[in-house]
Amino acid sequence: MSALTKTPRRGLWVLGGLAAVLLVVLGAALLLRPTPSEAQDAQPFVFNHQIHVQENGISCVYCHSGVMRSPTAGIPSMQLCAGCHAPADGSLGRPGGGIDNGSEALATLRTYIANGTAILWERITFLPRYAYFAHHVHIKAGASCETCHGNVGEMEAVHQVEKMNMGWCLSCHQREPNALELMDCSICHR
Ligand code: HEC
Ligand code: HEC
Ligand code: HEC
Ligand code: HEC
Ligand code: HEC
Repeated sequence: MSALTKTPRRGLWVLGGLAAVLLVVLGAALLLRPTPSEAQDAQPFVFNHQIHVQENGISCVYCHSGVMRSPTAGIPSMQLCAGCHAPADGSLGRPGGGIDNGSEALATLRTYIANGTAILWERITFLPRYAYFAHHVHIKAGASCETCHGNVGEMEAVHQVEKMNMGWCLSCHQREPNALELMDCSICHR
């Protein structure tokens, strides 16, 4: 056997080892990960997408402003909510739009506004840490939120629709004109 054939084989062993390490990491991540419905049950209160998006026409980007310029979409701060929901008379600090339909969830939101505390939303949708995703690249390439997240605008409590495993990512990447580049391990496993 020549040195020329040995080198690629050693390369394969290294790749196999890397994959094995990733598998162990993935196994641990799956065991520790809360299921999506557990995560939604653990929310401080239900944030209703349907009321905001479908009934009141607020756009996704108004609240998830990271999508155009950064890898993460971002979850809006309590201050953004206060802009519409703090009482107009400023009795809870800064005055807001005073939108109140008497619901229990809005009463809970006002205690956060009064105390000036952040709302600690549980994450519903996420990849294991060893996989990299970037919103802005996909949005600039023309992908819509719905393709990956389903029709969130119709959801009362948001839930994950797609499995978002590697096969799912690759099934779209392989249809792109620059598929060769987009199937390269190192774009997602950096
Ligand atoms: C641009 C204005 C606007 C912003 C920003 C906004 N909301 Fe609302 N919100 C509304 C409107 C309009 C309603 C509907 C009120 C009604 O039914 O009369 C509403 C309703 C609600 C309700 C009541 C839902 C129900 O079940 O009746 C809650 C709770 C709520 N919003 C929470 C939030 C939170 C949390 C944020 C920040 C992440 C937020 N809102 C940001 C406009 C806004
Ligand atoms: C008024 C603000 C507001 C608007 C408008 C809004 N969202 Fe959200 N979104 C939130 C808040 C607050 C959360 C966190 C609470 C939750 O997970 O239910 C959230 C959560 C999410 C999540 C889950 C995040 C996670 O942890 O995985 C997705 C996906 C999402 N939004 C997509 C959308 C899409 C798509 C649209 C437009 C169709 C949209 N949102 C419009 C405020 C908003
Ligand atoms: C090509 C698929 C894809 C598209 C298109 C997409 N997302 Fe996502 N989104 C994901 C993935 C994957 C995650 C988990 C990312 C992670 O954990 O690193 C995610 C996470 C999120 C989260 C929670 C975490 C965060 O990034 O802050 C929100 C909110 C969200 N997306 C909103 C949106 C909105 C709004 C749009 C449309 C403007 C959108 N997404 C378009 C795949 C997508
Ligand atoms: C609906 C189709 C679609 C899905 C689903 C999708 N992608 Fe993409 N992805 C694209 C397109 C289109 C591009 C941009 C191609 C370009 O501009 O060259 C891209 C580019 C990327 C890039 C390159 C970013 C850079 O810095 O250049 C990464 C990383 C990526 N995707 C990760 C993911 C991951 C991880 C998933 C699954 C969680 C995923 N994608 C799911 C279509 C998709
Ligand atoms: C477009 C993005 C993308 C590309 C390209 C990609 N992966 Fe992945 N990979 C992922 C995502 C996302 C996960 C996490 C899946 C989950 O959460 O179930 C993952 C998971 C894995 C895992 C853990 C086990 C599994 O299958 O879920 C291994 C091992 C792995 N990738 C190896 C590779 C190798 C080797 C390549 C190159 C041949 C590659 N990946 C290319 C996105 C990608």
